[in-house]
Amino acid sequence: MLSECFIFGVITFLITGAQCQETEVFAEAGSQAILPCKCSSSSRFAPAIMWSKVNKGTVWRKEKNGLQYWGSSWSPKGTQRARCPHSQFERGDFSLQINDVREEDGGIYSCRVANDHRVTENMVKLIIIKVSVSPLEPMLGSDVSISCNMSPEPYGVTVRWMLNNSPFGTAKSVLEEKASARMTGNWTCVVGYEGKEGRASATLTVKGIIQPSKDDTKVYAAVGSAVTLPCVFSPELLPAKPVWAKLKPGSLFIHTPDRLPASFIASSPSSQPTSDQSATLKEVEFEDEGTYRCSGIVKGHWLTRNMQLVVAKIDSSTPSKKRDSMTLTCQLTDTSEVVDYEWVHVVYDLNGTQSVGSIQKGKTLRLGKVSEENQGEWTCRFYGKEGILGNVTHHIPLMGGLSGQKSSGVSNNTIAVVGLSILLLVLLLVLVKMFLNHQRRKRIFQYPALETIVHTTSNEREERERSREKK
Ligand SMILES: *[C@@H]1O[C@H](CO)[C@@H](O)[C@H](O)[C@H]1NC(C)=O
Ligand SMILES: *[C@@H]1O[C@H](CO)[C@@H](O)[C@H](O)[C@H]1NC(C)=O
Repeated sequence: MLSECFIFGVITFLITGAQCQETEVFAEAGSQAILPCKCSSSSRFAPAIMWSKVNKGTVWRKEKNGLQYWGSSWSPKGTQRARCPHSQFERGDFSLQINDVREEDGGIYSCRVANDHRVTENMVKLIIIKVSVSPLEPMLGSDVSISCNMSPEPYGVTVRWMLNNSPFGTAKSVLEEKASARMTGNWTCVVGYEGKEGRASATLTVKGIIQPSKDDTKVYAAVGSAVTLPCVFSPELLPAKPVWAKLKPGSLFIHTPDRLPASFIASSPSSQPTSDQSATLKEVEFEDEGTYRCSGIVKGHWLTRNMQLVVAKIDSSTPSKKRDSMTLTCQLTDTSEVVDYEWVHVVYDLNGTQSVGSIQKGKTLRLGKVSEENQGEWTCRFYGKEGILGNVTHHIPLMGGLSGQKSSGVSNNTIAVVGLSILLLVLLLVLVKMFLNHQRRKRIFQYPALETIVHTTSNEREERERSREKK
């Protein structure tokens, strides 16, 4: 081809003195290809331009008088797939645009620009890249082949693969793999040739459990709330014997099942097969955290998906020194994905409409003084790299018994109130006793004369008895 160009170049040079270049252009099947053709045109007149495909005839040409012609295969039913934008002609740019390129468009093109006495010819090699996946939607665990096809196949190209924009280490142009969740996503074939790069992509969808799409996906829930553990199979798959299990922690290789939580409900009765096997926990407890596994049999394949339930709660504590201050801490059973915490004061107006008050950063919230200003709901929002993961809310009751809301913060006050009441009662009893004693003494002193009489009579009697003893 190069020699072809060379010979052609020599001939045209001898006649007209033009230059000959060859350029490679990569284009992904279905995209738009631009075949470059640039000449320094000094002529005052519009040149004649002819784009043709070697051995395939004219693609498009324009005569000096401005008339344009398309090759029959490039203008089916009046829609031109190839065009040469006139706006660029002044700058000596006669590049050809081909829309929606196909594999059969690959090949060598020639661009001839004829000025007054001069003909310039450029050669362009168009290489179409296409990534194909076969079968289109393989079952999890079945064979799948992903191939990077080039048309025409050039010599000395390098091939590398990217899966979801990360390098996938192989230089083969055809990959034979077992379909797995890890293989799903966007496959890009990057072709390198003499410093140039072309790329094409295709998406691989593996049939099986599509939600969650990855094992060990984390599901976040606040203590006391309801949560859905997703397990959705591809739409047309109806798993037989769907089973949910909670896996005991610690067993790294052999997962032994644990008891499912009390509020766990598997979605559908197994008599009615459905592709959605999601389960719910009506009221999450802190101890419900851990690994859950959903599984089912589809066309003889045993499909499973593990997911991680992460439970969030709020610990509140009152420092012993300052009785009316409070510390709230956001606790999660797994913080490996959490990068940030935020506390939001949720305010309700008279109509019960919710709005967000002040926002504070950090895992721990310190309230210097619990007052009417900051009582109510405090929500801890936790964020991962890609945004919010979830939230958990704590109620701070209104102080001074105005609010009947129950909370863990109330217990200390109850103890204090009960203690004080007992103290008051004891004090009251002591006072009553003292009062009664006082009253009794007062009653005796009301009759002092009587007392003397009683006293003297008793004295006289004693004396008489003593004298009788002496006798
Ligand atoms: C409560 O609702 C009424 C009518 O819906 C409205 O006029 C009023 O402004 C609302 N009050 C508050 C405090 O939002
Ligand atoms: C907490 O999460 C729930 C559910 O996603 C949401 O409806 C609610 O608005 C969130 N609360 C705050 C204060 O962000």
